[in-house]
Amino acid sequence: MSDKLKFKLAILASGKGSNALNIISYFKNHSDIEIAFVLSNNPEAEVLKRCEESGVETYVFHRKQFYETNQVLEFLEEEKIDFLVLAGFLWLIPENILHAFHDRIINIHPALLPDFGGKGMYGKNVHAAVLQSGVKESGITVHLVNEKYDEGKIIFQKTCGVDENETAASLSQKIKTLEHENYPGVIEKYILEKEII
Ligand code: GRF
Repeated sequence: MSDKLKFKLAILASGKGSNALNIISYFKNHSDIEIAFVLSNNPEAEVLKRCEESGVETYVFHRKQFYETNQVLEFLEEEKIDFLVLAGFLWLIPENILHAFHDRIINIHPALLPDFGGKGMYGKNVHAAVLQSGVKESGITVHLVNEKYDEGKIIFQKTCGVDENETAASLSQKIKTLEHENYPGVIEKYILEKEII
């Protein structure tokens, strides 16, 4: 455990933000973990409005700032952020941030990695590929983030069945429920039980 009062987390999200909001609500009044910011590359993202309404500060950056400057990293360091949590964030994390947050960036993927991952595998594309493959199970994967899409160390998986008459929409709903039920607790366990260097 660090000598600080709480571990400070920043969520990176650029979509609707159902996971981000669920994580925020889970850690509200938590004794050891605080959600300090939600960061997004998309100023129009619904997640930003919803987070502001729930009282969490937001920070928006653009592509050039992210990939060609240290501004985002400097912001995270100034704010003493300990961990990054990705929740619907589609860009690769640049080397400067990966290096500074080694083993401290967590992502969730809506399928059972290593299958159905990689570039372009997000949202409905994932569920469509799962259905097309004919597999009888899908699920969620929580993993650490490295320089490649969906290839970091897996820290948690949970499965669900794929029914005969499953559609991408119904599978997506099942997966969202699994995500909401599990992601905050997995984040909590990883942060509190991992040895912090
Ligand atoms: C989730 O399905 C997650 O697995 C993926 O992006 C989606 C984000 O959904 N990484 P939401 O914006 O949290 O609703």
